[in-house]
Amino acid sequence: MLATTHATGLQGFGWKMIASLILLLLFIGWHYFQAVRGREPFMKTRPGWGFFVKIFYFVAVAAIAACAVTSFGAVLFSGKLLGWALVFHMMGAGTFVFLLPILALMWGRSSRFGQAYRPGRQERFNGLAKLAFWIMLFAGVITIYSPLISMLPIFGTEGLEILLDIHRYSGLAVVLAAILHGYVVWLGRQGQA
Ligand code: HEM
Repeated sequence: MLATTHATGLQGFGWKMIASLILLLLFIGWHYFQAVRGREPFMKTRPGWGFFVKIFYFVAVAAIAACAVTSFGAVLFSGKLLGWALVFHMMGAGTFVFLLPILALMWGRSSRFGQAYRPGRQERFNGLAKLAFWIMLFAGVITIYSPLISMLPIFGTEGLEILLDIHRYSGLAVVLAAILHGYVVWLGRQGQA
């Protein structure tokens, strides 16, 4: 395990976490307002998700939420990720590790920039959803590997602290990107196109 005790509350990582979440929510509010007033040209996402696509998506969202609530709660309130919070964090983590490659295979092709999924077919995602998807994917890989390589007996205390910081910030990026992705997909399905 990495070092476990840190400053709690709105210090260090805590305030950056809260500030970035507030900024994202403000952006989403502004974007929604623009979309409702027809100022933001917004493509409707392609309907017709299959059963497995829905299941994988919702379980992945639940896994990210479990990791976020347990760890962000620890950052804000106790300063250490222990006990049941750590158990739920690791359950979410295992699910996330399993589902991230599936999401990559499922949506990588439809999330390419500047290329139609298939000629003549409506795109599944617009630019914002594609951007959020790639951030989620790349930050997700870093989030997964930072605790895993910290298990190798090659890092000193300082190295482990750096890896934990990398894990926290990349995890935060995954959460922000997942919220943005979820919002854009939801908006597209509301017909705010
Ligand atoms: C979106 C997913 C994730 C988020 C948002 C996230 C976030 C965090 C944060 C913020 C901490 C630090 C908590 C603190 O400072 O007390 C943490 C700790 C930890 N995370 Fe994650 N994490 C995620 C996924 C994962 C995954 C996939 C793994 C395993 C492969 C993992 C393993 C760990 C471990 C072992 C710790 C404890 C480190 C320690 O304090 O010793 N997490 N996570």
